[in-house]
Amino acid sequence: MTQLTLLNPGAMRRVHTFSAMILLAALFMILYITLNLETASVPKAVRNDLHQQSSLWGQKNDVKTQSSTHESTTTPKPDVYNVSVSDVFRQSIPQNGAYWNRLMHSALRELDKGGNTFRHASSWPLCRENNQESLQTNVHDFTSYPFLFQNFLQVMNCRSPPVLFNQPNKCITSEGGGAVPIFLLLAIKSVPGNFERRQAVRETWGREVHQGGLQVRTVFLLGTSPQDHPDLSLLLSFEAQQFGDVLQWDFDESLLNLTLKMNMFLQWTLKHCPHVSFVFSGDDDVFMNTPALLKYLQSQEVSSKAPQLYVGQIITKGSPMRDPNNKYYIPLSFFDGPYPAYAGGGGFLYSGALLQPLYSLLSVIPFFPIDDVYAGMCFNALGVSPELHPGFKTFDIKDHDRQNLCIHKDLLLIHQRSPSQIKTLWKGIHNPLLTC
Ligand SMILES: *[C@@H]1O[C@H](CO)[C@@H](O)[C@H](O)[C@H]1NC(C)=O
Repeated sequence: MTQLTLLNPGAMRRVHTFSAMILLAALFMILYITLNLETASVPKAVRNDLHQQSSLWGQKNDVKTQSSTHESTTTPKPDVYNVSVSDVFRQSIPQNGAYWNRLMHSALRELDKGGNTFRHASSWPLCRENNQESLQTNVHDFTSYPFLFQNFLQVMNCRSPPVLFNQPNKCITSEGGGAVPIFLLLAIKSVPGNFERRQAVRETWGREVHQGGLQVRTVFLLGTSPQDHPDLSLLLSFEAQQFGDVLQWDFDESLLNLTLKMNMFLQWTLKHCPHVSFVFSGDDDVFMNTPALLKYLQSQEVSSKAPQLYVGQIITKGSPMRDPNNKYYIPLSFFDGPYPAYAGGGGFLYSGALLQPLYSLLSVIPFFPIDDVYAGMCFNALGVSPELHPGFKTFDIKDHDRQNLCIHKDLLLIHQRSPSQIKTLWKGIHNPLLTC
């Protein structure tokens, strides 16, 4: 696939565009039929509602000035949390000439002086007007960085993209009068075009109803498609309305923007779902055994480690990729040092109690372009060590095990499964006739 792309990018793009158009046409027809079956006036209602909501959301961006009926005074204020950074983390970042390392150490010096480490960039549209000159002065080979990487550096302090779809009531539950605490929040990284993957997740492991009455909530985290892609906003607005699980911000989807996505998710959760017990962060192409995961979490809940949980498949002794053609390329003049032990971004778990401290650290630790490494740095700075759980298979499993349902019954997560594989596996592990 990659090789094909390299050989003939034009042809590949045409094929992609063509298949995307067919998929879109099909989706439109399904939507059209569904809408017409229900009532002819629904689309208008949807649009009106969205219009109303978007004007509301327009005001909601500023955490400090926003007020709405559901925002209680108990919502933590991201900025006032007392931040401290572990010695282990401080010592793990070599003091050298690399740009990120310098930013990090200067932030630590500021922090120790009691200063405000993060200089908030100007408002969203302005902060992207770049500081190319100063970057070129600070990073001697800046112009040799890949285009997207240059771009990352230019916008790494931009942190307030407009909200396009919000779900402010996601975690408001009241059964029998009292609010019910949310046990697990599933935060699934997706991109606008992945309708099919999201639907498979909704129908299987991302369901909000599970046995045992534990409250589970699911949100999909989205940025926006690049300009040259088809405009999916109407489809998305239908989806967001219909399922109530789409969160979207107005920034470009890109691998290097996933740390920004993490930032937006933490901000959203602290505002709208602050009392959740556990958080799962993962991709939209994983198979997760939610019942097994819930069982595991229940067993953890009673342990004293519960508020310090950070679990997944752990990558230790990782170091930056120095090949410019690698997807995860990190130039030496940008970051020079080892990676902390971190949980693979395909899917990992952490305690809700860590949301606030994590978010506070995001204004101390400069954004790093690889989100799971960045998360690892933050946990490390909090003094929380990642814990390996053998049930997380973010690098897949042996070929001959892939059809074995009994193996899947005991696993928690497997990375890279198609929507139909996810459905088959889900049905399989729930088959009452399955004997292992
Ligand atoms: C991240 O999103 C911003 C805002 O849309 C965009 O300007 C920037 O190019 C994106 N970054 C990358 C590396 O694509």
